[in-house]
Amino acid sequence: MTNASSQETLRYAVIGNPVEHSLSPRIHARFAEAAGVRLRYDKLTAPTDGFAAAADEFFVGGGSGLNVTLPFKVDAWRWVGSRDELAEEAGAVNTIVPGASQWHGCNTDGVGLVRDLAENLDWPLAGVRTLVLGAGGAVQGILGPLARAGAVLTVANRTRAKADRLARRFNVASTGLDDVGEGWDLVLNGTSAGVHGDAALIAPAAIAGSRCYDLFYALDGDTPFCRWARTHAGAETSDGLGMLVEQAAEAFFLWQGVRPDTADVLRELRERG
Ligand code: ATR
Repeated sequence: MTNASSQETLRYAVIGNPVEHSLSPRIHARFAEAAGVRLRYDKLTAPTDGFAAAADEFFVGGGSGLNVTLPFKVDAWRWVGSRDELAEEAGAVNTIVPGASQWHGCNTDGVGLVRDLAENLDWPLAGVRTLVLGAGGAVQGILGPLARAGAVLTVANRTRAKADRLARRFNVASTGLDDVGEGWDLVLNGTSAGVHGDAALIAPAAIAGSRCYDLFYALDGDTPFCRWARTHAGAETSDGLGMLVEQAAEAFFLWQGVRPDTADVLRELRERG
């Protein structure tokens, strides 16, 4: 299902609210340049209750694919006509591709995270005791891929019942933020708490000796959660810029059938901002 002939410039966009600061257009432009593909990639802001209308309009107007960011990943899951297994498992769609007869929803977030951890950072996952902070949409998309990579997972959330629900669904352990204990090899922040600077989610003793990864990113790598983890426990940290680039690469692969090299793009974003 596609509206564009091979002679036309293919049209893509990332849809979100807010979406002004999205790096996706820059990342996809670099991938396209390297692959010799002609495409246009825009930012699309939709009202928070207007995903379906905006997606309809984009595709009727000739769009070839969409990336979906907050707060629309669940709306996109509902809107598509079919879904891949990862999107089904996550209950969220971040990439829409042409299907056989209808628009098909995929989720590349978990694959992007695992690739950033295992390949870019060389942080192994097999048998690694991993604490995941948060139980919202961001976390829902990563638990399956992390578990399949061999991570031994515990989910901790402010609202304990949400952590318990996710834990049952993914067959992992759960706990409250006040009760996370110690001895974690890897701690992942999937809460939105740090966005507003309040990153002290758990006792510093919990991250002693842990590697800490934030699903959020800052171009200088210094998110509030990473800063907190380094300051209070001297932890080795990484923000989620690599995950952003890797999930984009997976989306590009789904659309173009070409897997872009990510190292240069990631380096350029870090160096040039
Ligand atoms: P997303 O889809 O981005 O994950 P979400 O579904 O609103 O967004 O989830 C946000 C996550 O951040 C939740 O786990 C939330 O905890 P609750 O389930 O208890 O709401 C967590 N979160 C947000 N602000 C927080 C804070 N100040 N302290 C601890 N956790 C917080």
